[in-house]
Amino acid sequence: MIHNITIQKVNQSRVSAIDFDNIPFGREFSDHMFEATYSDGKWHSCEIKPLERLSVHPAMLTLHYGQAIFEGMKATKHVDGRPLLFRPEMHAQRLNASARRMCMPDVPEELFLEALHKLVGIEQAWIPPQKGSALYIRPFMIATDEYIGVASSQSYKFIIICLPVGPYYDKAVKLKVERKYVRAVDGGVGEAKAAGNYAASLYPAKLAKEEGFDQVLWMDAHEFKYVQEVGTMNIFFVFKDKIVTPATEGTILKGITRNTLIKMMQSRGLAVEERKLSIDEIKSAYKNGNLVESFGAGTAAVVANVALIQDGDEKMTFDESNWELSRSLKREINEIRAGEIPDPHGWVIPVETAVYA
Ligand code: COI
Repeated sequence: MIHNITIQKVNQSRVSAIDFDNIPFGREFSDHMFEATYSDGKWHSCEIKPLERLSVHPAMLTLHYGQAIFEGMKATKHVDGRPLLFRPEMHAQRLNASARRMCMPDVPEELFLEALHKLVGIEQAWIPPQKGSALYIRPFMIATDEYIGVASSQSYKFIIICLPVGPYYDKAVKLKVERKYVRAVDGGVGEAKAAGNYAASLYPAKLAKEEGFDQVLWMDAHEFKYVQEVGTMNIFFVFKDKIVTPATEGTILKGITRNTLIKMMQSRGLAVEERKLSIDEIKSAYKNGNLVESFGAGTAAVVANVALIQDGDEKMTFDESNWELSRSLKREINEIRAGEIPDPHGWVIPVETAVYA
């Protein structure tokens, strides 16, 4: 233990009021939060305390210029009851990659991990036991200088909150091929988990929802030709002889579930290609009967089946009877996260609870 994290616990947990069989995504929060402050070039005042509202100055930089980043990760329970984290060090590294792009300070990896272990250790009763449910963990960093000038902040907060969640999508998704708006351009911030990327997706997603879709399928910003991602998740296409997912070359989020699924498929001996993938290639494979299924991958979404991809009036519908690969991947990832099957990659990390719970 190298960071002095003070701990103040609630007198009475709210967990017994939660119905783990009916948890809306994103609205129920656990009892405690972690908070660290950055000023004078270092992180300090690290604390776990009862979840509370932030009190901020109206000129706080984040509110005006969006210098804010986040992560999304999950804790699950081993069948023997032990709390588990999934690839936490990768999330620490991705947070810091986002931080660098957004001109924010790194969070030392050992501070990130120690905070996580302590917080999840304290909150372990909040991990839903249901398969497919989890304790969603939201680490985030905000710029806290009180200043109305366009500049990177000198002070920050790094906070972690936790939410028990069920599946993000409860049915297969319908995607609209987005032909007008773009999510990310080369040289932009598409690869960072920056709050503004999600803000910019809201209006196109709203228009798509009004037309009956669940989300948009983003295309590249130059030619509207190459598929990028869905915004809430990365995307995979299962052809008869291979699986293809767009390469992350600066505009696409380096999804940790994406990386996990690629490794799982490769372990099964399947050919997975990470490369540029045009919507025309997808359409012609669909027409020839070579495109079997498509699914999204993300921490919140896990593995989300795609029912429809529509480009203008052209519809590609995906039949449930073909969702073999996505279903088995989802089962495998959930079983690894419950400790029900071996974890040959060492992805699942037991929470160091003994001292903190
Ligand atoms: C996640 O999958 O964790 C994300 O951050 C995406 C968001 C749609 C919840």
